[in-house]
Amino acid sequence: MRQKLVAGNWKMHGSLQSNQVLLAQLREKLDAKLGAQCARLEVLVCVPAPYLAQVQSSLSGSSIAWGAQNVSQHKSGAYTGEISTSMLQDFGCRHVLIGHSERRGMYGETDFVVAAKFKAAKVAGLIPVLCVGETLQERESGVTESVIARQIDAVLEVSGIDGFWQTVVAYEPVWAIGTGKTASPGQAQAVHAYIRQRLSQHHAGLAEELRIVYGGSVKADNAAELFAMPDIDGGLVGGASLVSAEFVAICEAACS
Ligand code: 13P
Repeated sequence: MRQKLVAGNWKMHGSLQSNQVLLAQLREKLDAKLGAQCARLEVLVCVPAPYLAQVQSSLSGSSIAWGAQNVSQHKSGAYTGEISTSMLQDFGCRHVLIGHSERRGMYGETDFVVAAKFKAAKVAGLIPVLCVGETLQERESGVTESVIARQIDAVLEVSGIDGFWQTVVAYEPVWAIGTGKTASPGQAQAVHAYIRQRLSQHHAGLAEELRIVYGGSVKADNAAELFAMPDIDGGLVGGASLVSAEFVAICEAACS
């Protein structure tokens, strides 16, 4: 059985002070649960890079993992402003988001760049959380599956199917991100099943084990019905991950 994952994506939010409060609350409310009745749930927060040291120290000894929101495809060198996989690992990151739609849409990350970043993360021993998803216009034009296929195939081309072992795919329809418009459980399930089926053409066992999480306006009051779908293995949570009670309730929905 696949282990559920709830990952918070803080995006560009937080401060030393507010993070300290949020992290303390998460530890207090989640640590006991993750050790006991939710032992099979994995919880992760993906924080802005300047706060990795803070998170590493605040979450040390906790069951909550932390990761980054982006990484360079290059190992090191003259890449001003970029952050390498080994730098993330220096701060205890095990996971990194790759190809979030905000990076694809606002920072020009093409399928090619995303595939290179995925490979760099994987080769370094990080767990890439590959984000895929269609825009509203693409959904309305009926090309959702071909967009997802293109995004997945770009990674397959560079890393092969074996590159997907021990990784996570996040289906995040762009129209549901930060809009309060969640995909219905049925809509989300259909795309998750499509992703699994597409990868199973290359390796059925891997596709069965791969965790595919849903992102896009996941909240405490819609999480349970999303997580109940057979191919939805948890959530990638933006806004609601900044509010401890909401995030904890989403985690609880994933462990029931
Ligand atoms: P929201 O949960 O704020 O819609 O953001 C989703 C997301 O982009 C997570 O990566």
